Amino acid sequence: MCGIVGYIGENNAADVLLGGLKRLEYRGYDSAGICMLDGGELHTERSVGKVQDLADKVYQNLPENIIQATRLGVAHTRWATHGEPSEENAHPHLDQSGRVALVHNGIIENYKEIRQRLTAAGHSFKSQTDSEVLAHLIGAYYGENGDFLQAVCGALNQVEGTFGIAALCLDQPDCVVVARRGSPIVVGLGHNETIVASDAAAIIAHTDQVIYLDDDDVALLKRDDVDLRNIHNVPVSRDVARIEWDARAAEKDGYDHFMLKEIFEQADSLCNTFRGRLDVKQGTAILSGLNLTPREMADIQKVLLIACGTSLHAAMLGKYYFEDLADLCTDVEPAAEFRYRNPIVHARDLAVAISQSGETADTLAAVREAMNKGARVTGLCNVVGSTIARETGTGVYLHAGPEIGVASTKAFTSQMMVLMMMALKFGRGRRLSIQKGLEIIKEIERTPELVAKTLELNQHIAGIAKKYHYVRDFFFIGRGYLYPVALEGALKLKEISYIHAEGYHAAELKHGPIALLEPDVPVLALACDVPGKDKLLGNVEECRARKAPVIGIATEDDEEAVSYLDEVIPVPRTSTLLAPLTAVIAAQLFAYHMARFRGCEIDQPRNLAKSVTVE
Ligand code: G6P
Repeated sequence: MCGIVGYIGENNAADVLLGGLKRLEYRGYDSAGICMLDGGELHTERSVGKVQDLADKVYQNLPENIIQATRLGVAHTRWATHGEPSEENAHPHLDQSGRVALVHNGIIENYKEIRQRLTAAGHSFKSQTDSEVLAHLIGAYYGENGDFLQAVCGALNQVEGTFGIAALCLDQPDCVVVARRGSPIVVGLGHNETIVASDAAAIIAHTDQVIYLDDDDVALLKRDDVDLRNIHNVPVSRDVARIEWDARAAEKDGYDHFMLKEIFEQADSLCNTFRGRLDVKQGTAILSGLNLTPREMADIQKVLLIACGTSLHAAMLGKYYFEDLADLCTDVEPAAEFRYRNPIVHARDLAVAISQSGETADTLAAVREAMNKGARVTGLCNVVGSTIARETGTGVYLHAGPEIGVASTKAFTSQMMVLMMMALKFGRGRRLSIQKGLEIIKEIERTPELVAKTLELNQHIAGIAKKYHYVRDFFFIGRGYLYPVALEGALKLKEISYIHAEGYHAAELKHGPIALLEPDVPVLALACDVPGKDKLLGNVEECRARKAPVIGIATEDDEEAVSYLDEVIPVPRTSTLLAPLTAVIAAQLFAYHMARFRGCEIDQPRNLAKSVTVE
């Protein structure tokens, strides 16, 4: 979703804001804008396209002495919700008087009604956005009482929907006001400077001391002070937290793309996910963040795994883990569906919200719905201090490090790892023996080596991608533990290469989609040597009988599988539990190289955003 940056300090605001926007660009990249205050004037620039287009415009249009003198400003990178990507619709938006500038992430649901009211009072609008309406509303309150903080509070009390905002006012050259409801805002406390952003990636180069705003918090930021209020302008206090990434984690570090870097980080990210969490004496996992006593765990009767997108595919894998290791009945719920139907939830159910960002609007709403229905709710998030992590209050962090590529890779494998460890823990509290628990731990400890071996296939996979990158359609098929990988492999391919790809249970192919197979419609079969392989190879035969070429991700040295396949990606032999890990990494590399050969913008695929904070 959109990215916001705000700055007040002793450095040149243009450089800080544009640098911050570049780090947030993965949140949205259809247009961008900036507004800075200097010498009693607002300097605003907006442009369609990437942050670099905006930066070029700023450095071209603003005289060097002004750029050097700016000490305060707000900036925005947009993923359109209301109004097409255009310069008028790009942020910052100004109020009627031209004194207030606002950047906004989220959706103001009652903006039409407010817009009508303001139009009747003589306001005229330049854009089609809900955000401009909010800028005007703040301006209208400011016109009445001359108190900027009070004006923001007054306006926010009128709006329905979600917002993360940063605003400045021409008459207040020493402050930026920020607020949140449903869209994250992180305030970084630097030395003689305060930098605020939608997420920590834009802040870590400046400071590791941050305050995460809660919903309905408003903050008046000065270069050396933060005055925290709620939207009724009553003081509140929030803890200062420390960001635990190092700034290099948000750099490409020599790789062509963040996605490739993140694929290659997986031996380390998985290690970080399980480090310190394995009990090698009891054959179980140590997940104290779940905050469940053995008795409470034994009392859980059903697990609900709730997520969107790639996290939903991890949830599907989680179902296999919970059912196989913990004998626990498990449902997988697409978050958007869960919140709008009338799900049956009991007090003895454990709802697990899985979200890399911890901000996905549908998942967050589902968390609230499950809480309302009396379930225990826990979160599996990567972003520390994210809304889902904080609202659930309990859970397990992935510790995969910042994921910047829009197509999720390392977060998926860490989600898989956490779900496996959770299932192990629940299993050990139920019927799983200590021996079996210890075997699983040994498997988990082997993952970095398995990942490293799989990554050695990079060039081989690139060679296969080169052969197939021109196709228009692709099918991915799998069974059992490899069925969710078929869905995830197809999702990766369509997200970044724009090839139409469908993931199917291998047995379902013959119930319709097989009609689409032709010589130029290849199939990628997840053919690792795990239970179900024989049946899968039968399905491969069905595809080849329709002359569709079949690429197989298969276990190395599996001669039988090779004899069925046109191309083979030979991944290391693993147990069934870990087969999805090596298979999905091969599928990630395949999608990456397909997109590369097609010349696609891999880290910023069209129409997508990393974190979707609208419904
Ligand atoms: C967006 C992203 C996907 C991601 C999904 C869920 O659609 O483009 O890559 O899987 O949101 O995100 P979450 O942060 O909740 O895991």
